[in-house]
Amino acid sequence: MRLLVVSAGLLLGFAAAQGTGNHPEWPRWCGKAYQPTYPSFDPGGQTVEPPTLPGGPVLDVRFKPRYSIYLESDERAEFVVDAATSEWHGQPWPGLGTPDEAPPVHFTINLVSDDDVLVSGRVAVGSTANVFAFDLARLAPRLEPYAVVLFGATESGGPNVTASSELVVLPEKATGSVARLDNLRGGLLFRSAVTGGRFEPFLPYGFYASCDGFLCDEDSVRKIGAYRDLGLNSMVSLTTVFDSRAAYEYMDQLDLRFMYDLRGYYKNLTAVRQQVAAIKDFDAIYSYWGSDEPDGNQDPFNLLGEARDAIRGIDPYHPVSVTLNCQDYYFEEYSAGADFIMEDVYPIAINSTFSKWGTPCNATYGDCGCDNCRGNVQDVARRLDDLARYERWLGLWPKTKAHNPQSFHGEDYWFRDPTPAEEVAMNALAFHHGARAIASWVWPTSDALARIHGEFAKVVATAPVRDFILGGQAQRVERVEAGGLDVVDAAYWTSGKQVLLSVVNGGYEPVGGEVEIPLPESIVVGTKDAVVWGNGTWTIGHRQIRLGGVAAMSTNIVILGVTMD
Ligand SMILES: *[C@@H]1O[C@H](CO)[C@@H](O)[C@H](O)[C@H]1NC(C)=O
Ligand SMILES: *[C@@H]1O[C@H](CO)[C@@H](O)[C@H](O)[C@H]1NC(C)=O
Ligand SMILES: *[C@@H]1O[C@H](CO)[C@@H](O)[C@H](O)[C@H]1NC(C)=O
Ligand SMILES: *[C@@H]1O[C@H](CO)[C@@H](O)[C@H](O)[C@H]1NC(C)=O
Ligand SMILES: *[C@@H]1O[C@H](CO)[C@@H](O)[C@H](O)[C@H]1NC(C)=O
Repeated sequence: MRLLVVSAGLLLGFAAAQGTGNHPEWPRWCGKAYQPTYPSFDPGGQTVEPPTLPGGPVLDVRFKPRYSIYLESDERAEFVVDAATSEWHGQPWPGLGTPDEAPPVHFTINLVSDDDVLVSGRVAVGSTANVFAFDLARLAPRLEPYAVVLFGATESGGPNVTASSELVVLPEKATGSVARLDNLRGGLLFRSAVTGGRFEPFLPYGFYASCDGFLCDEDSVRKIGAYRDLGLNSMVSLTTVFDSRAAYEYMDQLDLRFMYDLRGYYKNLTAVRQQVAAIKDFDAIYSYWGSDEPDGNQDPFNLLGEARDAIRGIDPYHPVSVTLNCQDYYFEEYSAGADFIMEDVYPIAINSTFSKWGTPCNATYGDCGCDNCRGNVQDVARRLDDLARYERWLGLWPKTKAHNPQSFHGEDYWFRDPTPAEEVAMNALAFHHGARAIASWVWPTSDALARIHGEFAKVVATAPVRDFILGGQAQRVERVEAGGLDVVDAAYWTSGKQVLLSVVNGGYEPVGGEVEIPLPESIVVGTKDAVVWGNGTWTIGHRQIRLGGVAAMSTNIVILGVTMD
């Protein structure tokens, strides 16, 4: 996904607006010079922690519709209301020094247009993810979003807080699929004829799929079938419906879901509209790939938002993604136009300190193929944590994240393919750190990477594991004890009376002895219900789980039966 084509004229046009203060005609990547002819300079665009407000914490009231879109056939909808305290963003509220004493927020959520009350309720200060259902019957379906506003106050009236959002209620869709994003839990939902017209949780797991040698091949039908048979449920299809109609029709037949590639067109809205009009009613489409690495290429900020608006004008039923390449370069600007965010962390077998161009790589200089990476599987976890942190600092509602694993080598950046064990470890770490979808670059890949992706997809992208990952937030296990190694990362998800627990040893040595995984006090483990992945040996105590036989670069996943204290 790399295309170092630099147009000096284009760069000149907007660099002044972006205010980087350096020479815009210099070839750059993530804002940095990467050739030795040019010097190191601060690329700008870093997202930084906002200053702490002087008067102490404030109340950060925010809300969103549960789903990115609702349809005429949805009888009810929900709002998710957060009332967190914040050092950075919000409004004054009494008693925030001691949140137990802060009065609750009594609120209504109204339509801006006529002040009609949709929801009224009460939330505790310091609480998040409060869900309030309401009836959709009185909202006429339409393409334009409804502006909604929350007004909250203490029971006695003052002070008050406000927040605003948008609610989308669309006309019913008679043909093809619909996909939406879950603003509470972070995953995707999908409906089509195959799901009986009902939304189901969907964890995309597949590859970016080439035209050459695959989708545009004369043998494409057989090759697509073989791809699906590996256990992969989706792809980012790198060909147009005009060139490969039969391939798309076959994907519809197989329910092999696809993200439609618009990256080559996103600067040309006429082309975007043509493509969208031709693909929008397919059964297997789940989203559009809006733009590939606009940050790496220093594209103008506004292009993706304009492309998304053009897409929505024709097809508001599928979300639009962006792939971000940079670790810290105008995150807010480059993610603003996308409904969900993919990251390209390709860390395996890079030289993270010195590039093929002949420069060192660091925060202000060079291009080593993976921006500000250290060259290990933990780079995936760090990047997802970074993006989530930027969202918190900026006061943004977190967007759904996808991980794009590395399934290739070459270009003098990547000296070998990841091993299957590294591949699984990176994808499991991505789930630990909040990813809800996998799109690997690039198909065709090696037989070994093809097989391991299929095997892991069959496990994680289907029930029951899928429903843990999409049904809640991954919780990291603190204080994992792994014989002094700091490369063991554990996370768990709860669902009813079960916990999914995943442990990744992201180091190149086995763990001597056992890994001890202390779950929180509130979770009492009773049974080992299913081993999902890995050949480690689980020992189940009430509050202490131990895992032995932890191989180098290995992933172990188990489902436990629990009771909650
Ligand atoms: C909300 O608070 C502001 C500022 O204190 C005040 O001017 C306004 O009248 C209040 N609004 C209502 C509806 O109470
Ligand atoms: C934009 O796309 C349209 C439709 O495909 C095409 O006719 C036109 O030449 C494109 N414009 C540019 C500047 O590439
Ligand atoms: C990176 O490249 C530099 C220059 O060729 C070399 O000195 C260094 O050892 C390389 N580092 C790694 C980890 O390969
Ligand atoms: C990056 O490397 C360049 C060239 O060695 C150096 O001038 C610059 O100070 C380095 N930047 C940082 C942030 O270390
Ligand atoms: C367990 O799995 C690891 C890979 O994670 C492998 O290297 C090892 O040989 C396996 N051990 C057994 C006993 O199968």
